[in-house]
Amino acid sequence: MADSDLLLDVRNLSIQYRQVGSVNSAVNDVSFSVRRGEVVGIVGESGSGKSSTMFGVLGLTRRSGTIVGGSVHFEGEQLYSATPAGLNGLSDEEWRRVRGNAIGLVTQNPRGALNPVMRLGEQLITMYTAHREATADQARARAIELLEIVGINDPVRRLRAFPHELSGGMAQRVLIAMALACSPRLLIADEPTSGLDVTVQAQVLDDLRHAVDEVGSSLLVVTQNLSIVANYCDRVYVMHAGEIVEEAPTERFFEQPSYPASAALLAAQRGIADKRLQLTGFPVDGRQLPAGCLLHNRCPFSMVEDGCTTVHPDFVEVVPGHFSRCHRTAAVTETVRTQLLSEGSA
Ligand SMILES: Nc1ncnc2c1ncn2[C@@H]1O[C@H](COP(=O)(O)OP(=O)(O)OP(=O)(O)O)[C@@H](O)[C@H]1O
Ligand SMILES: [Mg+2]
Repeated sequence: MADSDLLLDVRNLSIQYRQVGSVNSAVNDVSFSVRRGEVVGIVGESGSGKSSTMFGVLGLTRRSGTIVGGSVHFEGEQLYSATPAGLNGLSDEEWRRVRGNAIGLVTQNPRGALNPVMRLGEQLITMYTAHREATADQARARAIELLEIVGINDPVRRLRAFPHELSGGMAQRVLIAMALACSPRLLIADEPTSGLDVTVQAQVLDDLRHAVDEVGSSLLVVTQNLSIVANYCDRVYVMHAGEIVEEAPTERFFEQPSYPASAALLAAQRGIADKRLQLTGFPVDGRQLPAGCLLHNRCPFSMVEDGCTTVHPDFVEVVPGHFSRCHRTAAVTETVRTQLLSEGSA
């Protein structure tokens, strides 16, 4: 990859939540990238660390969280590198240039992110003028334009609406509009359609994709919905227990997933009830990570002889551009080919 194509480069990010008597290792040594013009998906079960990772990109954590390791580069510039003493990187003033400006973030839970006592117009205008010199008229025109871009009808009237007057899909669109206000080079959207009706999901996604194209952003989208990945993403990363466990170009991912949890996700989506493609038990507790592969307690492919219970697997390139963190990749690949793909295509 030519360096000039690299937009976002996250290396070895680790985040912990420290509470009395426990440390939850929620994000463990996570590395990933987004190229210019790319749509990248991040999937993984609930609690696998997706949202923590997205906040981490912006040097932020939620309550009790600490970024304990790693670095983030954006457009070749280092945003920070984590040291034991804290983040070494941009000043508060420089972060304002990045957060909400060069990088837009749509957080999970749209209602919580909108100010309930402020009209939409004011919220959009405040967001825009926080980063851009603009007259009141220019800011208002931009707010109207943004609502149009994200597919909201009658935007002039909507400027006067309060958040409680919006449907879920509408609230989600407004958040996307706010994140796009300053034409960010990267938009991070954390589960932008969860909680919406299936029909509305497709519309919001189409509008999101259209809006991203319009402002020329790259898109990093977190989702648990594989059809979103199939329809919108160029490349996908899978997370499990705070780790990146698989990376593949989208087409390859659906043709030949090589990590057991990915195969299980696809089998579930396609309604295939084959025990060889199902995880058992409960998600791993970040406060007590097991030895070896973090999935081994739940994995139908786990073999003591192959080191699954003792040796932490490396992230290995299966074919160019496709990586998997599994000692049993060959067995997974074979089972996927015979069980998942044959039935899936039937
Ligand atoms: N503020 C917090 N304090 C303590 N633990 C937290 C906090 N936020 C997240 N965690 C823990 O960190 C882990 C990762 O959570 P995170 O929200 O990043 O996962 P996620 O993949 O986004 O999940 P979901 O799909 O449910 O949104 C979980 O074990 C979660 O309980
Ligand atoms: Mg989340």
